[in-house]
Amino acid sequence: MSLPECQPIEVTADKPYPVFLGAPLEALGEYLHTQFKDLEHVLIITNPVVAELYAERLKKGLLDYRVNCLMVPAGENEKSLERLSQLTSAALRFGTDRHTLVIALGGGVIGDLAGFFASIFMRGIRLIQVPTTLLAQVDSSIGGKVAVNHPAGKNILGAFYPPQAVWTDFTTLDSLPWLEVENGLAESIKHALIRNSGLFKFFETQEDNLKQRNPLTWREMVTRSSTVKVTIVSQDEREQGLRALLNLGHSFGHALETGMNYRGVTHGQGVSIGLVAAAYLAKAKGLMTMTEIDRIKGLLSLYGLPTQIVDITLVKQDPQVLLELMKADKKNQGGRKILILPQGIGRAVISKECTDLEILEAWKQVISA
Ligand code: NAD
Ligand code: GLY
Repeated sequence: MSLPECQPIEVTADKPYPVFLGAPLEALGEYLHTQFKDLEHVLIITNPVVAELYAERLKKGLLDYRVNCLMVPAGENEKSLERLSQLTSAALRFGTDRHTLVIALGGGVIGDLAGFFASIFMRGIRLIQVPTTLLAQVDSSIGGKVAVNHPAGKNILGAFYPPQAVWTDFTTLDSLPWLEVENGLAESIKHALIRNSGLFKFFETQEDNLKQRNPLTWREMVTRSSTVKVTIVSQDEREQGLRALLNLGHSFGHALETGMNYRGVTHGQGVSIGLVAAAYLAKAKGLMTMTEIDRIKGLLSLYGLPTQIVDITLVKQDPQVLLELMKADKKNQGGRKILILPQGIGRAVISKECTDLEILEAWKQVISA
């Protein structure tokens, strides 16, 4: 690749950075040459699945640097303080110092973990996000949120740590299992609902091309969806207001995931049901019509995403339990639940006015009789 072929879009936050969309892994080294004259040491943090598939292609461009690769087993459990400590010991053994650049090569788990590591190692070292899942490409690699989990909750320990760049190679998505694709699709459809009715229509009309993984259609989908995220975090990187919209569907989704002990429901499935529940709540508030709810449900179903909880026994047979679980949501203020609601298709609002009764009703709408 010659670099000018791939024009980045820019996150114009406090510390601006480019998001390269459609940038071959092999060409990252060339970019580093143009940007970091002092660079000698590169630390790739990845997992065995991704490394097997893509580390060699990435390393091809890094021949001028001393490169070490740190491997983290796959799985959400790896976003932990224990793993962070192990990474630190291993990085020190490799002679990592303040001039090292970290490359996070993988999905959202690697991006969050390696990003948090880069944010605190010797008070912060350079970071490039190289996302390889759909969710990471359209969502987690953009916006600078990095974190690990704590027994008390997901992403409890974290930071805002913008990378030097996001380097997105669409071809890495070719090997992504469909279940993982679904997680990214749920977030992309969420982006469309929040901000881009044209993207919503695109999903409605491009089912065949997307399911057959037509490269041009995927390129367009990832580009349009990433652009929604770039636009929002550029205006509100630190989540003082607007960025909270990105949590659409997540208050419901997280409660469902927690209620099911993260078993039997993926994050994408939780978000999908959460989007529908939020849409019912919005209807109760006069922000949504039934026709629009049917459109949302139709679109999610088109891509195999659930719109109802089929086996409520898995969540202790009581929507009240799900309501209780929503108390732990990070957005809540002083015991009051803060919900994101869609307003038609292509807009969303922050609501502090939803009663427990209304939320309960929304849960009931997504539980099969
Ligand atoms: P993930 O990182 O666990 O990756 C999913 C699976 O896909 C893994 O098993 C991985 O080995 C495999 N994989 C990755 N790339 C592959 C490829 N190209 N081909 C084949 N297999 C591949 O999951 P995810 O959905 O990418 O990320 C979820 C995480 O992202 C969660 O921890 C969540 O909290 C976080 N997240 C962060 C933000 C943020 O703003 N920082 C936003 C959304 C989600
Ligand atoms: N995925 C939510 C955010 O980045 O703010």
